[in-house]
Amino acid sequence: MLQQSINQAVEVLRRGGLLGLPTETVYGLAADAKNPEALRKIFLAKQRPMDHPLIVHIAEISQLSEWTSHVSPMAIKLARAFWPGPMTLILPKAKGVLDLITGKQETIGIRIPSHPVAQALLNAFGSGVAAPSANRFGHISPTTAEAVREELGDAVDMVLEGGQCEIGVESTIIDLSREEPVILRPGMISTADIESILHCSLSSKQNNTPRVSGSLEVHYAPTTPTELMKREDFQALEEIDLVSVLVVRKPVVMHNALIKVVLMPDDPKQYAHDIYQTLRELDKKGFKRIFIETIPESIEWAAVRDRMSRAAGLSH
Ligand code: TXA
Ligand code: MG
Repeated sequence: MLQQSINQAVEVLRRGGLLGLPTETVYGLAADAKNPEALRKIFLAKQRPMDHPLIVHIAEISQLSEWTSHVSPMAIKLARAFWPGPMTLILPKAKGVLDLITGKQETIGIRIPSHPVAQALLNAFGSGVAAPSANRFGHISPTTAEAVREELGDAVDMVLEGGQCEIGVESTIIDLSREEPVILRPGMISTADIESILHCSLSSKQNNTPRVSGSLEVHYAPTTPTELMKREDFQALEEIDLVSVLVVRKPVVMHNALIKVVLMPDDPKQYAHDIYQTLRELDKKGFKRIFIETIPESIEWAAVRDRMSRAAGLSH
């Protein structure tokens, strides 16, 4: 059954079609990374600006040389430690990698996902697959096959079923093409995890200076106006005259009947697992506002903090 779907999915890619691909982070909108027509379809389907680079997904480390011109010792260390898994490396691109992939930069984003369905697909396809998250530009990333269909409808030729994504937020992006490694997007592999492998410290100043234009905009946003709120300010919601939802990490009692309280796990991994699915569901319920309890400042919450700040329209 799975093999049959994998064969069908490989056919979709070979014909230049678009595939909904489960990964351990979020679902991707996948296309043959060497087929310009197929890559153009990704940008059209997502309504994504053409200069936003795409991540190429491969099955194993031996394929790296096909896509990159130089793999530094640091890259090898990180690859061995975290692949297959939720990490994307930015490396110098190989000759011949299409501008549609790189956004005309000299670098390429590349990763080896661990999801068994993604692994099976990539092994069967045998080449690189470009896959941004399978949401329309600026929307919440999908973490179920159903959410992919909801986001993209007929624009996607087939969606591989892979259940709910285990991690739930996009991969950690580490730029290794500069003098020092820089985290461009926090994910569940934390700064501390990376530092412990590289035996160096990543300065927090660098972490705040991503060079990707896309990463500076409002992203991952629900359509319902969303705000972050400190616990000590919850009291103000008792007076508010709007049908709203308050997303908390620890139980709270609200007397205002217009406020629905949603309790999220007080653990960064479990919170990340639920974050997009919860926002997606709340977004459909007609609330006038979504209030989110502010996220702790510690390192292990960095990915959740980043996504919630963006959902609230703040950058970091
Ligand atoms: O977890 C993930 O990374 C998911 C799954 C499907 O693998 N993919 C994903 O792709 O989140 P996307 O396109 O939604 O986000 C990729 C980010 C974008 O912000 C893009 O600008 C950045 O990676 N990126 C890709 N290639 C890059 C490059 N060469 N230099 C700098 N940033 C790059
Ligand atoms: Mg995305």
